[in-house]
Amino acid sequence: MQHESHVLPRPAGLDDVKGWFHNIDQVLFDWFLTRQRERGQQGDLLELGVYLGKSAIFMGQYLEEGQTFTVCDLFDSPADDAANDKEMNKSYSSLTRTAFEANYRAFHDELPVVVQGPSHVITERVEQGSCRFVHVDASHLYEHVHGDIAAARELLGEDGIVVLDDFRAEHCPGVAAATWGAVATTGLKPLCITATKFYGTWGSFEPVRTELGGMLSGRKDFWHGAEEVAGHSMIRIDGRKARIPAQPKSRYEKERGPATAAAGSPVTAPRRLLRSLIGR
Ligand SMILES: C[S@@+](CC[C@H](N)C(=O)[O-])C[C@H]1O[C@@H](n2cnc3c(N)ncnc32)[C@H](O)[C@@H]1O
Repeated sequence: MQHESHVLPRPAGLDDVKGWFHNIDQVLFDWFLTRQRERGQQGDLLELGVYLGKSAIFMGQYLEEGQTFTVCDLFDSPADDAANDKEMNKSYSSLTRTAFEANYRAFHDELPVVVQGPSHVITERVEQGSCRFVHVDASHLYEHVHGDIAAARELLGEDGIVVLDDFRAEHCPGVAAATWGAVATTGLKPLCITATKFYGTWGSFEPVRTELGGMLSGRKDFWHGAEEVAGHSMIRIDGRKARIPAQPKSRYEKERGPATAAAGSPVTAPRRLLRSLIGR
């Protein structure tokens, strides 16, 4: 039998980690988390739904001394209900915790605190009001997302930021219902939206909204505009052309092929290589 380590992933860069985390959302995670760091805002990080670790690896860069990063996922455990089980089998059938951990360790010396189980256990594992940033990206079914948003509200401290994935995708209307339901009924204030993620806060709105608008106005690589939603000036962002921010480095970076490494950016390199091969 082949030893397990032979099949563990050795990603040379973040783009080698399978997942869903667009450039524009990397820009925004970087901006919110850097702003918190620069203001000395204390608090922990939390992600519900990690899959193979793409967004978790990115978030891990912003962890400060004495802070905790907790991630929660079912991984290869069965879900609590049939609908969630079906969702898991359809979308994440090959997921294992070992693969996530190998990916994460390629970029960071220490693993986050890993809670393997359904996301509704998170309020028993993370202290109330202790977080500054929560990324909700676990089940995309209404009941689960509704519960995850309630958990985020309970776990976030003053002026914390919540990010909700797939809040408007056609294949998961329950996320949209839970997101806008929270805006309408719980005081969740919408700061901005991209094609796939919603960014909001239950804390103070104006200072962060104003600074965000300032940052966006200085960027020429994406479009943005404001829209009044539930009494708040929410920013819509079209980030299809957004430049990727600095990414965490993998300890296997040198294992990248010479042509790709020479091209610099992990995203553009394969395209350049292809162009040189077909002579364009
Ligand atoms: C969309 S993926 C996460 C993607 C990841 N954040 C990224 O950017 O690559 C959703 C994850 O949620 C997990 N999941 C699904 N239902 C869950 C539940 N009820 N509790 C915890 N995790 C769940 C799945 O195992 C899967 O890994």
